[in-house]
Amino acid sequence: MSAPHILATGRAMPSRVVTNEDMCSMVETSDEWIFTRTGIHSRYYCQGERGADLAEQAARQAMERAGLKPEDIGVCLVATFTPDFATPSTACQMQKRLGLQEDTICFDLNAACAGFLYGMKTAHALLADAPRPYALLIGCEVISRVADRNDRSTFILFGDGAGAVVMERQEDAVWHTVTGSRGDWDTIHALGPGPDPTLLYMDGRAVFRFAVEVVEKSIRQLLEAEGCALNDLDWVICHQANGRILDHVAKKLGAREGLFYKNMERYGNTSAASIPIALDELAQAGELKPGMRVLAVGFGGGLTWAGTLFKW
Ligand code: UT7
Repeated sequence: MSAPHILATGRAMPSRVVTNEDMCSMVETSDEWIFTRTGIHSRYYCQGERGADLAEQAARQAMERAGLKPEDIGVCLVATFTPDFATPSTACQMQKRLGLQEDTICFDLNAACAGFLYGMKTAHALLADAPRPYALLIGCEVISRVADRNDRSTFILFGDGAGAVVMERQEDAVWHTVTGSRGDWDTIHALGPGPDPTLLYMDGRAVFRFAVEVVEKSIRQLLEAEGCALNDLDWVICHQANGRILDHVAKKLGAREGLFYKNMERYGNTSAASIPIALDELAQAGELKPGMRVLAVGFGGGLTWAGTLFKW
């Protein structure tokens, strides 16, 4: 079986840090409420930067660390639900900014917070027939642009940022995936039609219940496919929506302390960017070593979810 192998990672955050204290000047809330309900202390907001600026920076880092040049890239995908433009895609902007070749397969995909893992599956499939054997996959969001100050329970969660990976196809490697979606409109939606398009709307409690259900189910399915136990894994990296969701699932499955990686304290929920940002943090800290087994799960608007188990 072939599998995607991540050669290198990168990340880029905007310059402005927005702490929970800062949040108190924007909506009626408190550091204590936000931290105890979500595990978030601060997040980043763009001020002047565009999503494409962050995506470019993260992509350059990943390509440099992989030792690749722009002309080596055969596929460039950007997972986002908050692109700078509906068209051109952020991926086509990357093609121009990075100098990718004209025949590079470039497009954005939107699977909300599950977008990065949908992107990994898509990039892997495209690499089977791409002009060159390397894919650049970026998760990039500017959610501050669609955040609704009139809904404080949702407003305080989100942050902006980008994470990138460079992938190649590897033969005889470990690679299991699950994906799903529910054709749901009511629970999460943003920027619909009409004279007054909705900013980001989310029914937090419904998403919480959905997330706990699909994260647990995905992990069980992936472990069964691999034939291993949860605590045999090296890392579980879930979409960083809320620390309580991850604690709940970790406890239910009997996970050992520290198996579920958490960094929402510093970034908030960055949607499609959260998993590649986490991968980059761990990789840069030397916490991801060749052969380690990593399980990742994303979930979000759609309602979508995706999980993968792969070897680093
Ligand atoms: O990336 C997509 C995936 N998204 C998620 O996974 C989000 C999942 N859901 C959540 O993380 C949680 O549902 C939230 C953090 C969004 C909300 O937490 P909650 O425990 O579900 O709070 P709630 O909205 O039910 O509100 C509980 C109370 C209410 O007060 P009363 O009615 O009990 O008096 C709210 O008015 O907390 C109040 N509240 C706040 N208080 C201070 C809501 N938001 C805030 C706030 N600061 N920001």
